[in-house]
Amino acid sequence: MTVSADQRIIGCLMAAVGLLVTLLCTLHGSANSVTPEFQCDFDEDMDPFCGFRQSTDDNFNWTRNNGSTPSRDTGPQHDHTTGAGYYIFIEASMKGPGYKASMISPSFISLNIPRCLRFAYHMYGRTVGTLQISSQNEGNSTRSKVMWSLTGDQGDQWHVASQTVPAETTRFVIEGVRGSGALGDIAVDDITLTPGYCGSDIRDGHYNDQLSM
Ligand SMILES: *[C@@H]1O[C@H](CO)[C@@H](O)[C@H](O)[C@H]1NC(C)=O
Ligand SMILES: *[C@@H]1O[C@H](CO)[C@@H](O)[C@H](O)[C@H]1NC(C)=O
Ligand SMILES: *[C@@H]1O[C@H](CO)[C@@H](O)[C@H](O)[C@H]1NC(C)=O
Repeated sequence: MTVSADQRIIGCLMAAVGLLVTLLCTLHGSANSVTPEFQCDFDEDMDPFCGFRQSTDDNFNWTRNNGSTPSRDTGPQHDHTTGAGYYIFIEASMKGPGYKASMISPSFISLNIPRCLRFAYHMYGRTVGTLQISSQNEGNSTRSKVMWSLTGDQGDQWHVASQTVPAETTRFVIEGVRGSGALGDIAVDDITLTPGYCGSDIRDGHYNDQLSM
């Protein structure tokens, strides 16, 4: 039996596609193979804030919510995880400019290696203020250090950010600062903490890989 040149080319193409798919699956698999030591999608009614607590050293609180926020032209329409779950947000209505709401993470033991903090954020509205994440070392009474910060309207969509957390960190703080007006809801969802550096983020300072949903 003879095999035509066409059949041979098709065979080669199929083999090449198969190899590419295998390679992509392997890469994808290894990127997700490290199990997070902390994970919070705010979807558990039994543990709605995953051990985060509201700071008393601020002006108002983060709120857990599903669906859209009460105000139009600001805030998400749904959560980031499934579109049907919960997220946390700061409601900008009826607050003064610069008003802050802080949530403190549970404490975790400091490792001798950094960790990667990943989270989804939604910052939509004409007068969106600032979202910032700080690290703290509870054994060190010096004030917390801002690791990541973003100000202003980022469009009506969820973004994913990752930030390498220094090894000495024992907890982190998520702070929302209200902007100049009521169109400034800021939401956060899907927080994970994984041992090791974040992918390409091996430098200090700000890094956010903005992957839209
Ligand atoms: C914020 O939450 C804390 C802890 O649950 C509570 O004690 C405090 O009254 C709340 N503040 C406001 C303004 O609702
Ligand atoms: C929000 O959650 C409540 C309680 O689980 C549910 O009844 C409601 O339909 C949800 N709303 C939206 C918009 O997802
Ligand atoms: C405490 O924090 C300060 C400022 O970030 C830093 O310079 C110092 O090394 C820290 N000390 C310890 C014991 O971690």
